[in-house]
Amino acid sequence: MRLDKYISDSTPYSRKEIKKLIKEGAVAVNDITAAKPDIQICENDDVTINGEAVNYTKYVYLIMNKPQGYISATEDRHYKVVTELVPEKYAHYNVFPVGRLDIDTEGLLILTNDGALDHAVTSPKKNVYKRYFARLDRSAEKKDIESFAAGMKFKEFTSKPARLEICDDPHEVYVEIAEGKYHQVKRMFERVGKTVVYLKRTAIGRLALPEELKPGELVEIDKNEIVMLLETNK
Ligand code: URA
Repeated sequence: MRLDKYISDSTPYSRKEIKKLIKEGAVAVNDITAAKPDIQICENDDVTINGEAVNYTKYVYLIMNKPQGYISATEDRHYKVVTELVPEKYAHYNVFPVGRLDIDTEGLLILTNDGALDHAVTSPKKNVYKRYFARLDRSAEKKDIESFAAGMKFKEFTSKPARLEICDDPHEVYVEIAEGKYHQVKRMFERVGKTVVYLKRTAIGRLALPEELKPGELVEIDKNEIVMLLETNK
């Protein structure tokens, strides 16, 4: 690929700034000062700017504890959006949320600029279970476990078997679903006569929300870690 593309994929510098840096002799490839922005290099070449290494990173993977009050989108006229919480140093990656959590739902949300990962997580065919903690207005009952496991028929889809665990306080439950349809968890509980009063996603596949991550905080995670955690889930 071109040197200027390598640098613009991996850093916040604009093409114009990169051109200037190269002209000033600030950029080196394998210890040789680069003369032009269009020289061809490969991902394994060592690129430095003013002696500082540039690691090639086309895609970035962030995991956020989504707070309530934000919608899972990149822009909106009326509501705050989750990408407002992404630090400036990631701005040039143009990340988007993978799947959606409702405005009043908290918890694990992946943000990335990698469309392939988006598909791997959100496609029901991939069978990546999403785990939620929910608080209900009424106690969950043993028969609800069977109703969830049997799958539920809705207008636009039939859910795959969902796993429901009732906590010591029966107003609190964990539920695991294979899809991620609009208001799915809330609709499934409505079906059994309960209202979800609090909802938090705690895991996607084997990728768990780190306990120390407070609502609104996020961390960068290695792609291999995400892929491995998603692949081993079923
Ligand atoms: N199910 C819901 O009802 N809401 C969410 O935000 C996620 C799953």
